[in-house]
Amino acid sequence: MEGSSSNHMLKYFLILLAIFSYLNSSSASRHCPSKIAADRRFIKTSCSSTTYPTLCYKSLARHASLIQTSPKLLAHASLNVTLAMAKSTSAVMLKMSKSPGMKPREVDAMQDCLEELSDSVDELRKSIGEMGLIKASNFELTMSDIQTWVSAALTDETTCSDGFEKNTVNGKVVRAQIVKIAHMTSNALALINSYASLRG
Ligand SMILES: *[C@@H]1O[C@H](CO)[C@@H](O)[C@H](O)[C@H]1NC(C)=O
Repeated sequence: MEGSSSNHMLKYFLILLAIFSYLNSSSASRHCPSKIAADRRFIKTSCSSTTYPTLCYKSLARHASLIQTSPKLLAHASLNVTLAMAKSTSAVMLKMSKSPGMKPREVDAMQDCLEELSDSVDELRKSIGEMGLIKASNFELTMSDIQTWVSAALTDETTCSDGFEKNTVNGKVVRAQIVKIAHMTSNALALINSYASLRG
């Protein structure tokens, strides 16, 4: 009985995630094929210096026509996709934590994690806001703020995933999703650092 309601919730979580990621992926590109190929190559090369290059490329390739070959837009887009993923995951977790059949222990873990995740959403949002304000005159200061916030977001996500029980099915799935967000954040930080070093 408990197993089947847990299974049910898991399906619910996965379906919602699939819907959210579909909604996030609908920015198609209509540029000429050779240009898009060059833009994708730029993303692939830049991603190769991150810790999770495959995830990096997979999450950014669909934004190639927007990023083109700009390190700044690449860093900005990587923050965008990370924020979108963190937001949709926390929305799903919130629903899940209110659904019947959750054990009190699981609800507690979920709520603690949600708090951390919501801090990380704020930090990513602030960083994205600052990306739009970068000028030659404030470059170093602004980049340093962004680096601080994105590092804080990464710490919050790690705290969040570490607090999860690894021995329940729900715990495992949600934890894996948070770990993925942390990997995307780590990649964003690497792309931000390499953009910062261009002028440093
Ligand atoms: C980041 O997201 C904002 C808001 O959705 C959008 O206007 C902007 O074009 C995006 N930038 C990149 C580089 O993806």
